[in-house]
Amino acid sequence: MAALLRRSLLEECPRLLLPALARSYAAGPGAARLGIPGVQHIIAVASGKGGVGKSTTAVNLAVALAQRLGLRVGLLDADVYGPSIPRMMCLSGKPRVDEDEKMIPLINHGVACMSMGFLMEEDVAAVWRGPMVMSALETFMHRVRWAPLDVLVIDMPPGTGDAQLSISQRLRLSGAVIVSTPQATLLDARRGCTMFRKVNVPILGIVENMSWFICGACGHESHPFGSGGAEKAAADLDMEVLGKIPLNIAIRETSDVGAPIVATQPDSSAAAAYVSVAERVWQKLQQAEGGGEGQGQRHGPPKIVME
Ligand SMILES: Nc1ncnc2c1ncn2[C@@H]1O[C@H](COP(=O)(O)OP(=O)(O)OP(=O)(O)O)[C@@H](O)[C@H]1O
Ligand SMILES: [Mg+2]
Ligand SMILES: [Zn+2]
Repeated sequence: MAALLRRSLLEECPRLLLPALARSYAAGPGAARLGIPGVQHIIAVASGKGGVGKSTTAVNLAVALAQRLGLRVGLLDADVYGPSIPRMMCLSGKPRVDEDEKMIPLINHGVACMSMGFLMEEDVAAVWRGPMVMSALETFMHRVRWAPLDVLVIDMPPGTGDAQLSISQRLRLSGAVIVSTPQATLLDARRGCTMFRKVNVPILGIVENMSWFICGACGHESHPFGSGGAEKAAADLDMEVLGKIPLNIAIRETSDVGAPIVATQPDSSAAAAYVSVAERVWQKLQQAEGGGEGQGQRHGPPKIVME
């Protein structure tokens, strides 16, 4: 199965994949962190635990940054095993390749997207070996025509394995957004943070997903999980709560049909919750750029002032 998939990928874009493969083997663990030319900020949406709503959050955050904040936004689906972005963004088909042999992202809802799902048959469950995942991710980072972008949002795969580590080590991330739920334990959230802290990626904060309940039938709201859980976890982990997202069937239904709620029900309170997270994220990215912590390698030479 793996060999078959690799063959089909190589048949699709042999010239794209081979150089990336060679590079990823040659680069080794000590290789320098690369930005993506023309991309101002790269942020990762991650969690310590699977199924907490990373992809849903990444999609709606990306759409909010693009449609409501007016930014140029890309979305990279780093979940090579179980890509979600094609369905959630209602995109399919093979990306075209430009004259520089870079793949051109597919665009919907104002967001430029790339996903392994565009390159594979839809119902083929991916069985990848480690090096293949790495080369696919390298390809997505460096052989896709992302620029010019203000923000590239990366929808991280679940867990904290090699693929996650490789992205955080090899890409110059401006920060990570940790998605958690009231049911997830502090341990889960901590697991999500630890990896980024180890590799000196600033944590922008935590998004509490499914924080309260909005009834799909009548719209009434309730708080079955109480409140203050996210604040407590965040305080224990020394980070801020970027925002809270309600548990709302409309969020799932719109995701399932590729019509993110921020784009299709912009006046809903669920959309407002995502927009508020997007505003806070963008604010923090700009603050960091203005001389915050952990951004040392981004700084240019000091300005010389003549008096
Ligand atoms: N706030 C929400 N309200 C209702 N449903 C939600 C909400 N957030 C996520 N979901 C639903 O929960 C399921 C899991 O969400 P999602 O795929 O975004 O999680 P994930 O963390 O990316 O999962 P994985 O770890 O497998 O990548 C999906 O069916 C999604 O529609
Ligand atoms: Mg996901
Ligand atoms: Zn109700």
